[in-house]
Amino acid sequence: MMITMLRIAINEENNMPGGKGFYLPETAGSSRCRLATGRSAIHHMINCLPQNNARKVLLPAYIAEGVIQPFLNAGFEIFFYRLEKNLRPVISDIDRLLAGISGLSVTVLIHYFGFSSRSAELSAILGKYNTVILDDLAHAPFTVDPTGKYLAEEAELSLYSLNKYLPVVDGAILSSKRTDINVALNDNRLPELPVLTQQAYRRHLRAGYDLFNSKEPQKCRQYLKVLEAAYEEYYSVINAGITPLRQSADSFRIEEKFPYDWLTQRRRSNSYLLYENLQSSTFTLLHSALPDEVVPWCVPARVPAHRRDDVLSRLFDQGVLLSVLEDKWNFIPEVDCNNFPVEQEFINEHVLIPVSEFISTDAILDMVSKLNTI
Ligand SMILES: Cc1ncc(COP(=O)(O)O)c(C=O)c1O
Repeated sequence: MMITMLRIAINEENNMPGGKGFYLPETAGSSRCRLATGRSAIHHMINCLPQNNARKVLLPAYIAEGVIQPFLNAGFEIFFYRLEKNLRPVISDIDRLLAGISGLSVTVLIHYFGFSSRSAELSAILGKYNTVILDDLAHAPFTVDPTGKYLAEEAELSLYSLNKYLPVVDGAILSSKRTDINVALNDNRLPELPVLTQQAYRRHLRAGYDLFNSKEPQKCRQYLKVLEAAYEEYYSVINAGITPLRQSADSFRIEEKFPYDWLTQRRRSNSYLLYENLQSSTFTLLHSALPDEVVPWCVPARVPAHRRDDVLSRLFDQGVLLSVLEDKWNFIPEVDCNNFPVEQEFINEHVLIPVSEFISTDAILDMVSKLNTI
């Protein structure tokens, strides 16, 4: 069974080349903290903002709960900017919304599925205003800009949430290059996530590993149930308390030894194979071409909304699990829902195609031939 978002547990069977550690850009004068979760890192960032900030934030309405919740908890007023069909920000919305805010605001950019939301035009608009820009790189830690620099190198504040990519329980890194926002924290004194919560996430990873290796649809359904239940158990704890906790020692050990060059190379070559060989009128890729700079988390595509359940279930029976990112991601405001047709359409139509580094070339080609027959 091929899976999109699940991080396959590392063990002796995965004979991977050795790693060189997670790449973190070093910039003179920058500050950094390492916590258990991305949401607690955003909570911490909010506490580090200059006291006189306007408590206003610009966000997209298609957004992870873990990003919006810390702002809601802190009593921020939320301004939603719209997204283009390819999930890049509508730049004129950002311009208009920022023009209406006086004082220091926050703008969050999400680089969905590893595809950059940045452009020279967007950076120029953002540069006109008194806003703190947080580049959320949870999906895009390895994506670079057109000059070959990692997105984090240019970002004034950047966030990674490591369990989105790595087979780790936890870990989030927040960096700031702004001299007025010092996010440094002595994390040695903080506790880790409770043992039971860490165990729940390990069960989630284990179920992902079993699912990946199983060929029997019946067993796959059972593993999927375990995987989802274990994740919910973990999630209920990390979402309830967002006071800072330190990254677990186990996660840090895996983070240090993970082979990132291999990950990048495998994801890119799997994505190219998908782009070259997908010939289906059912699937429309969200990005018609794969930019050289992108290291995808997965490859987003659209299928007709009324056919999506059927497509997912037929592929599941053939050993291919496409994901959907909707639960805990739909924050389109009810009163204003007509303003967000693009986001609603994406939520209804998207599927996420796996290109994980653990998937072999043969398996990717086999998956694409199955997608082509749908
Ligand atoms: C893009 C993105 N950013 C941030 C977060 C929050 O990270 P965490 O789950 O580590 O709190 C998530 C979580 O789903 C996410 O998908």
